[in-house]
Amino acid sequence: MTTKEWNQLRKMLPQWVEESRRHCFDGKVASYIPELSKAPIEALGIHILDGRGNAVSAGDCGLSFTMQSISKVFTLILALIDNGEEAVFSKVGMEPTGDNFNSMLKLELVQPGIPFNPLINAGAIAISSLIAGESSLDKSARVLRFFQLLAGNDSLDYDYDVYRSESETANLNRSMGYLLKDNGVLEGDVEDVLDVYFRHCSISVTCSDLAKMALVLASNGKDPLSGKQLIPRRYVQIAKTFMTTCGMYNASGEFAIQVGLPAKSGVSGGILTMLPGRYGIGLVGPSLNRKGNSIAGVELLQKLSQQLDWSLF
Ligand code: DON
Repeated sequence: MTTKEWNQLRKMLPQWVEESRRHCFDGKVASYIPELSKAPIEALGIHILDGRGNAVSAGDCGLSFTMQSISKVFTLILALIDNGEEAVFSKVGMEPTGDNFNSMLKLELVQPGIPFNPLINAGAIAISSLIAGESSLDKSARVLRFFQLLAGNDSLDYDYDVYRSESETANLNRSMGYLLKDNGVLEGDVEDVLDVYFRHCSISVTCSDLAKMALVLASNGKDPLSGKQLIPRRYVQIAKTFMTTCGMYNASGEFAIQVGLPAKSGVSGGILTMLPGRYGIGLVGPSLNRKGNSIAGVELLQKLSQQLDWSLF
């Protein structure tokens, strides 16, 4: 962070958060996973971290929330580490869908019936089946340890209330799992695969955990604070490209134009984004717009990108 930008962020971030917070009441908190509906609609928080450990935060950054779809970026990376590119891309494609994240339309309409990309639900469920491990609990434990390593936080854990709430109500994801099994995409028992998926979606984090995970991606897989290469550079490149083309669901094109950074959102209102080579950014704002992205969070990122000229394009 240059001193000038750092000073501007320190000075302006609290005001920009408060301006964006007003948009919270124009959106809705997700309720299709019943436990998520308890999140505070007016919350908005952000944490920005650079490679020297300098950090700036504002708003409700103490709030804990579940990663939901943000976790899909990191299970993709773990599946790539476990299986290599060829095996992974025989089960999921590389293209955006333009459909909702939970749509299964194209699994029947387009052949071969593999999910279009690893960030839609069908794709992430297929990725869950590729995580190495003796049992579903073993696979989930590996995922959790990997996330702890990237976040530099050994106490990351599941939010069991959200996990149970999703598992009990996930009829659509279940039907997707069984269709994928029938299409020959899923290995193993469908319920076991879904359990790995529900667990990684329910890992609980704060904005600073997301910022740290994002910083590793922003640094091409190296943890700049420890100097350790945690992810091969090629897999980070793949992950960042998917974040750019599909990370904000079917609003990814608009986000690329308005913000211009690789990002991944989740239905709990989290957004993980980064300025490659410079910052990791974690944000939460549980009130969602019609596309399922944090309404105030997207607004805040637009402001940051436009004020500080952050777009990569
Ligand atoms: O499967 C679900 O519906 C949630 N666990 C995750 C959804 C989410 O965050 C949006 N996905 N792209």
